[in-house]
Amino acid sequence: MSMTYTIETWGCQMNHHDSERLAGAFERAGFRAVDDPRQAGIVVLNTCSVREKPVQKLLSRIGELSNLANGPRIGVCGCVAQQEGEELLARAKAIAFVLGPGQIHRLPEALDAIARDRRVVLTGFDAAAEHNAGAIFRTSSTRGMITVIEGCNEHCTFCVVPYTRGPEISRPLKDVVQEASGLAAAGLKEIELLGQTINAYRCPVSGAGFAELLEEIATIEGPSRIRFITSHPRLFDDRLIDVLARHPKVSRYLHLPFQSGSDRILARMRRRYTRAEYLDLVRRIRRAVPDINLSADVIVGFPGESEEDFAETLSLLEEVRFGQVFAFAYSPRPRTPAARYGDQLPGEIKKRRLAALFERTDAIATELNQRLVGSVLPVLIDGESRRSASDWQGRSEDNRVVNFPKAGDFGVGEIVNVRIVRAGAHSLYGRCVEAVPARLPLAETVPAGRPADDAP
Ligand code: SAM
Ligand code: F3S
Repeated sequence: MSMTYTIETWGCQMNHHDSERLAGAFERAGFRAVDDPRQAGIVVLNTCSVREKPVQKLLSRIGELSNLANGPRIGVCGCVAQQEGEELLARAKAIAFVLGPGQIHRLPEALDAIARDRRVVLTGFDAAAEHNAGAIFRTSSTRGMITVIEGCNEHCTFCVVPYTRGPEISRPLKDVVQEASGLAAAGLKEIELLGQTINAYRCPVSGAGFAELLEEIATIEGPSRIRFITSHPRLFDDRLIDVLARHPKVSRYLHLPFQSGSDRILARMRRRYTRAEYLDLVRRIRRAVPDINLSADVIVGFPGESEEDFAETLSLLEEVRFGQVFAFAYSPRPRTPAARYGDQLPGEIKKRRLAALFERTDAIATELNQRLVGSVLPVLIDGESRRSASDWQGRSEDNRVVNFPKAGDFGVGEIVNVRIVRAGAHSLYGRCVEAVPARLPLAETVPAGRPADDAP
């Protein structure tokens, strides 16, 4: 078997970061990364089981890979690995190992088993497991992801994450700060802190909460931007709002899933906040940071969702006016309470509601983006635009996608000032005005995104 590997990643940021950790373990073991599975000795499928039909998708991909002439060994990681465990070995002979998201540090054992022609299943969670930040193989030279807290204790009735990623385990604050300092020293411009419920963070050593951790990271010299996902509205306190408002490096972008605008559905989802509480939180955040760019997750077609409930979701969207909305049709997940509710809705209704919702959210996002036409935004260049090789693609400080023609000798990882000339629902287009010195406080160069008087 050739000492080469490739990883195919499905799903969220956490999975993408897990792939960086897997890659780190492969590199340490002397393997070399390749892009094409036809050249790989081992192909890892890092799976997601939050929505859709993950097992079918996995088996069909395994079928394709098994037909490749080089006959790569196949490893299954991620949420499907944890959820299905042993059963996967029986369902697909081609699988060499199954490694749950809580077992990434044990990849060397799986590689050892391959060398001995044995198949292994490593699943479960271990609070004492080594996070091994030093072995992360980072793919971006502009932004670095750091896991702050693993797992989730919330048990929303629709969600499989607490089963596939286990209970919450916070990393010691000093380890996270050390990792962030390492990224700063390596010259990365943006740090993204990750956790399914990041504001549930509590340092196991000092008891410090997420606001304290964020504040410490925001004072590290070097990176210009700090972002974090995902916050649970129920746990968002004034101390955190204060850090958002006071630290110019903390991005004026916040992902704050609300899931439904109806109190009846929120209660059935076990989100443990009401519509009024969510709106009040948004009001307090916007009072402190008037031009913050808010995004959210929302589910349509949850069991028992009536037309009235759905209308409340639409009205919440009108009230808050998010810059971006990630909306999903409800999909029953194994082991979750909502999958057993008797009043499941037909696919047709879910589809219709999702389309109606996207029509409104796209219109709102377009309006918000068009207000930025004419303004100059500092943009961190991520790479070439996917649409045109003559354009760069980057992100504004408040996390909007900005494309602009390549000009001058700027490159990936640099922050440049871009004057916005056009705007759509999902991106802005502009012209480069000048490079921004990396240490300039970004807030000073950014015009107010939205007038405070139309905040809810
Ligand atoms: N930790 C996040 C939070 O605090 O809400 C969410 C994590 S989940 C991986 C990402 C999103 O997927 C959720 O916010 C939800 O909108 C969506 N999701 C989760 N389970 C779902 C299901 N069974 N059907 C449809 N969408 C779902
Ligand atoms: Fe899932 Fe709810 Fe946790 S959506 S990740 S159980 S906060």
